[in-house]
Amino acid sequence: MNPLLSFLIPTFLVRKLKDISSSKSLTIASTADIHSPKHLEALKEAIKRVKVRPDVVLLAGDLINKGNVKWYSPTIEAISQLETHRIVAVFGNEEYEEIHDKLREELGDVIIFLDDESVKLEIKGLSLGIVGTKGSLEQPTTWQERNIPGIKEVYEARIGKVERLLRELDTDLRILLMHYAPTFKTLYGEYRSIWPQLGHRGYEKVIEVTRPDLVIHAHAHNGNKKAVLWNIEILNVSFPLWREIVLVKLAKRADLEQYF
Ligand SMILES: [Fe+2]
Ligand SMILES: [Fe+2]
Repeated sequence: MNPLLSFLIPTFLVRKLKDISSSKSLTIASTADIHSPKHLEALKEAIKRVKVRPDVVLLAGDLINKGNVKWYSPTIEAISQLETHRIVAVFGNEEYEEIHDKLREELGDVIIFLDDESVKLEIKGLSLGIVGTKGSLEQPTTWQERNIPGIKEVYEARIGKVERLLRELDTDLRILLMHYAPTFKTLYGEYRSIWPQLGHRGYEKVIEVTRPDLVIHAHAHNGNKKAVLWNIEILNVSFPLWREIVLVKLAKRADLEQYF
């Protein structure tokens, strides 16, 4: 800055302007629906094409197929080639409930699993808050209705819980990571008749009122890649859809009120 100008601008404002000029960002890598071993080789090829080192990797579920837990570690081994600092994952419907404890036990030191939970990370001087959940379905599958008592109520209650978790996060950046879709706007390409079995629009209101910086989901293998809701990017990172690792640069939004 011209030294003459700095006489004219109050010191506190000079400090704020410096903050803006060095605005920080995080590189987020994300994927899901590998259904290992089905897409594992294609995943490895996609990882080779990534030329950046992501600050955090977010996994949106269905890394394995039909609860076959032995394929989880080889998938994570492939993902670790991204040389990220942190891996955060939610469970998909293919990571059956009964293997959750085993996954936490085996991989809990390399992966932060979030199951209707949140985590705060400090990366490159920025605080990043992530709320992770499997999400909800407007219409539970026939199997779920037969085998999980009160599943509809579970799905409805989860929406409120996710909203509370997002409200509680006071970090610079906030991400909602889920498996099922939080909207039908990323489901074009899937048969319209099954949309209620792919997600729940109750989360649209949650996104509107809590305004996370980014929303990531999967599960809709044939859906569309992204949509915008209330000016917030919703990414469907399903690997069969992208055939690439999804990379996002996330920067802290300018907060106008602090300057006036
Ligand atoms: Fe899937
Ligand atoms: Fe799924």
